[in-house]
Parts: sequence; structure tokens; C-alpha cells
Amino acid sequence: MYRSRRLKQVSAAIFNQVAAKKQELQKKGREMIDLSIGSPDLPPAPHILEQLQQEVAKPGNYGYTLQVSDEFRQAVAKWYNARFGVTLNPREEVLGLLGSQEGLANICLALLDPGDLVIVPDPAYPIYHAGPILAGAELYPLPLVPENNFVPQLDRIPAEVADRAKLMILNFPSNPAASTVTLDFFRSLVEFANKHSILVLHDAAYSELAYDGFRPPSFLQVEGAKEVGIEFNSLSKTFNMAGCRIGYAVGNPFMLKALAEIKGHTDYGPFNPIQKAAVAALTGPQDYVRATASRYQQRRDLLVRGLNSIGWKVSSPKATMFLWAQVPGGQDDVRFTFDLMERSGVCVVPGSGFGAHGKGYVRIALVQKEELLERAVELIAKSGLIS
Ligand SMILES: Cc1ncc(COP(=O)(O)O)c(C=O)c1O
Repeated sequence: MYRSRRLKQVSAAIFNQVAAKKQELQKKGREMIDLSIGSPDLPPAPHILEQLQQEVAKPGNYGYTLQVSDEFRQAVAKWYNARFGVTLNPREEVLGLLGSQEGLANICLALLDPGDLVIVPDPAYPIYHAGPILAGAELYPLPLVPENNFVPQLDRIPAEVADRAKLMILNFPSNPAASTVTLDFFRSLVEFANKHSILVLHDAAYSELAYDGFRPPSFLQVEGAKEVGIEFNSLSKTFNMAGCRIGYAVGNPFMLKALAEIKGHTDYGPFNPIQKAAVAALTGPQDYVRATASRYQQRRDLLVRGLNSIGWKVSSPKATMFLWAQVPGGQDDVRFTFDLMERSGVCVVPGSGFGAHGKGYVRIALVQKEELLERAVELIAKSGLIS
């Protein structure tokens, strides 16, 4: 059947092939340990589940919501203030989303015209490339390389690129490279955006999954950030609510208004019980968030230690639910991923699926219980692929 040129440009072929291979092996009865997709395996806190259960039982909760409630907007503003010291006007500077992915896709349709230039990280979480491409824009990839701790060097962007670019998309703590920045980086980002009249989208989906006492900053903590950009955040990872599809964007009111308008053509707002559960998450006790982070920290330690002990040199990230690991012995990452699935049953994601600079890496998600991660290390050791 005919497919649009647009769709062909954003093929997710590698990810689909990995999923198909996993299914094929499972059908043959193979034990598979899936460390590919970053979907949290831990449940939301009990008070969030209770709120959701109560709200689902109310017959009045089944209409279109159109947008998020004032209560939700206020809860986000309060959470941002408590966590980052950032003051937000709930009406104009907070917008609810059906997950941050939805917002990242739609904002491109709201702000970009065909031929516009967008500066994006490489490797990147796929929507940072797919969003602009679906809007007909062109990409200028910023290489994230180990020599710079997988943080882009803004001063290396050619002036003609910076002057032409309309939008820049960044994400710290980052997926897939698991790199982090301090507030100084965001200061230089705001300065850069002002100098070249670029709008910034910062995705802070992993702001709460950080380790060893590190607290990732918000882009909005920089004075003047709200004049140049917005930040996306999500309840998916912070509160283990990925399947609920609830997130938000905060910051520049004009950008948020444009996003709200484009959304008005495609969705009718998040399900009210989910909004209520999100309010319970944002305004309730935050110790469960810290417990979730320390659980991931334990898993990180276990896997990093385990893989290094079998000769796979991987470094320990300060945040996110991922290890970004160089493929041993310089093997091709796609080939290695398939060989690893065949020989060990462990599923990871090949780095080249995230962009040209992901080549030679795989992303390993810490989304299985500790016993399974230990088992994964044993199976990888036995695969004969690490030597
Ligand atoms: C960096 C990043 N941003 C956004 C998302 C999407 O999150 P949501 O569930 O809020 O759409 C993900 C999901 O894995 C992610 O890794």
C-alpha cells in the first residue's frame, strides 16, 4: 500500500526489527530479558493508584476534558516551585499534554514551516528528529561524543547555522547517552538562543531519576529562559505513570499558546481520572520518587559492576534509566544487538537507531528487577560476544 514520503522519512525500522526478533525468539520458547524500551516496570505510589481508582468509579468523569484543569496547572506550578525554585503562572505558563512525546511532536507543527532549520542532538530520543521532519523542517545534528561527555558544544555551531536555525531541541539528563549538565550549560544555552534568535525546547523527562546526590537543574532556572523557550516534563518516569499518558510543558506563554492551538485540532484533553491521579502525584508525598531513583541507582550499580566484571567496559551514568555502552571490540551495533538476542536472550537497542553518532553503541534500560539484571549479566557472559 502507498505510504506518504513524510512517513518514509521517519522510519523506525531498526526498533521494529528488534521488536520482531524478540517476538520470533519468544515464539520459539526462548527466555528473553527485555532491556530495550524505557518503560518503567515499577508501579505508581499507592496514593496515586487509590486516587485513580476512586476517580474512575465516578460516572461524571467520562466527558471530554478539552484541556487540563486549573487544579492540574496549579499542581505543576507548585511542584516546579518546590523542586526548582521556578515561578510559573499556572494559566499562561503551564500546558497539559497527553505525555510529553505528544507535545514534542505537535510543537513542531505549531512552530515550524517547511525548510526551517532545527538544531538537534545526535544521538537523540527519536521524536527530536521525527518531529521536525514531519513538519517539513531540516535538521542540523549536534554530535554528542565521549570526548565532550556527550554534551554539545554550542560554540562549535557555525554562525550561519545558528543564524538560520529557528528551533533547538535539547534534553538533559539525556536519552540515550545518559549525559547531564549543570546550570552553567543552560546559562550559555539561553545566551546562545538570545544571540541567534532561536527558540529552545528542553526535555526534562529524567529530571528526577538522578543518582549519588546529583539534582539535575531545570532550563527554566536561568533568568530569561522563559523568553526563549519551554521545558517538557512528564509523569511517566518520575511517578511511574508512563501508560497514563500525562505530561506537560512549561515556560514561554506564546509557544505554549501555539501548542495548545495545534492540539485543539487533534485531541480533547487528558482523561479526568488521570489528571486527578497526576495532581495526587505532584502534590502528594515525594518520598516514593526518591525511592524510585534509589532503586534505579541500585540497578545501575549492579549492571555496571556486572558488565565490567565480565570484560564489557561500561561507565556509570549520573542519571536516567539507561546505560549508554560502547559495543565491545568495535563490533557493529546492529549486528551486535541481534547476535546478543540470539545468543543470550537479552534485548537492547542499537545506538544507530538514535542517529549517526549512536553508531558503535547500544542503549541498555534498567527496567527489570535486580534478579533479572543479574541473570542478564550471566547470559551475556556466556554468549561469547564479550572478549
Ligand atoms: C527523553 C524522553 N522524552 C520524552 C519521553 C516520552 O515521555 P512521555 O511518556 O511523557 O510521552 C521519553 C520516553 O521514553 C523520553 O525518554
